Amino acid sequence: MEAKLDIKTVGVVGCGLMGSGIAEIAAKSGFDVVVREVDAGALEAGEKRIRKSLDKAVEKEKLSAEDRDAAWSRLSFTTEVPGLAGCDIVIEAIVESLEAKNELFTELDGLCGEGTIFASNTSSLTITDMAAATQRPDRFVGLHFFNPVPVMKLVEVVRTIATSGETFDRAFAFAKALGKVPIAAKDNSGFVVNLLLVPYMLDAIRQLERGVASVEDIDTGMQLGCGYPMGPFVLCDFVGIDTLYRISEIMFEEYREERYAPPPLLKRIVTMGRFGRKSGKGFYDWSGDKPVALPV
Ligand code: CAA
Ligand code: NAD
Repeated sequence: MEAKLDIKTVGVVGCGLMGSGIAEIAAKSGFDVVVREVDAGALEAGEKRIRKSLDKAVEKEKLSAEDRDAAWSRLSFTTEVPGLAGCDIVIEAIVESLEAKNELFTELDGLCGEGTIFASNTSSLTITDMAAATQRPDRFVGLHFFNPVPVMKLVEVVRTIATSGETFDRAFAFAKALGKVPIAAKDNSGFVVNLLLVPYMLDAIRQLERGVASVEDIDTGMQLGCGYPMGPFVLCDFVGIDTLYRISEIMFEEYREERYAPPPLLKRIVTMGRFGRKSGKGFYDWSGDKPVALPV
């Protein structure tokens, strides 16, 4: 028999694409959730994203209005890091930067109780690089969710050489309590899925640079030819072009293998502020009913 899960209050730091999804599923699963964002504007945008997703679930009859209201009442929002002090687990989903993440975890380390687990949703950094900056490397794991969080069933639960067995088991049980299917992964950059998925997305950009076909035709090719749910460029826009660029830089720095290197076109698109679906433009323009491919 599995031990009773002793996690009640969940902290989620960052309420962008991923943090909003993580906060939503945690609240829907019955946990009290404290969400932290950098400022009032970002917090309000994150709050709206969660509310819209919950309302949509009610509209689609996947969630009752009572369950939505109950989930909403379990969520609280703050711009203050000390607001997370009482959490049993804190899941970080902020920008993909080791410096920013370590600044956050160092502050949290001085605020949270001994029993609090720290978890990062990083795509490409190693958990070791964050855990080593705290006084609790034994209570530090990776919890890597997939986008869109409410839909994708997988969570990679990542242990470093310092993660205690008890912490890993608690994190694994917690992922199950969120209704997800956890898999155990070692702490290498890219864990399991991104090791394979990131080179695929970058390769699609390289083929585009070589002029193999258009954005739409490459997407249609992979969707209809391989049965993938979306083509690689729609996927890049889903993930976020800025995030993909950071992931690529981090993985290339780690492995020094060309397949992880950011293609120049990726950098150009980031420079132009086309961050993907979240900003309205990436490989596609997302402002209308249907995405329209943009010049590259
Ligand atoms: N929130 C909640 N539900 C959502 C949703 C969201 N953001 N987006 C879609 N859905 C739901 C829809 O409501 C719909 O539900 P019903 O079938 O019950 O009506 C269902 O998902 C399917 O959606 P659609 O019919 O609108 O569209 P679709 O069939 O194309 O599915 C998709 C959408 C689930 C996103 C699908 O296209 C897909 O699986 N795409 C691939 C996603 C993927 O590869 N994610 C991994 C990204 S990489 C990553 O996350 C790791 C990293 O570190 C970068
Ligand atoms: P995003 O840009 O949508 O959101 C990041 C949010 O973090 C922003 O709202 C920003 O204001 C906030 N933030 C930045 N610093 C903060 C701080 N110190 N405290 C609180 N909030 C802060 O990014 P995202 O796509 O949600 O990615 C977040 C993390 O999840 C990254 O590490 C990314 O690699 C990882 N991830 C992303 C995906 C994806 O498909 N986008 C999938 C899995 C994992």
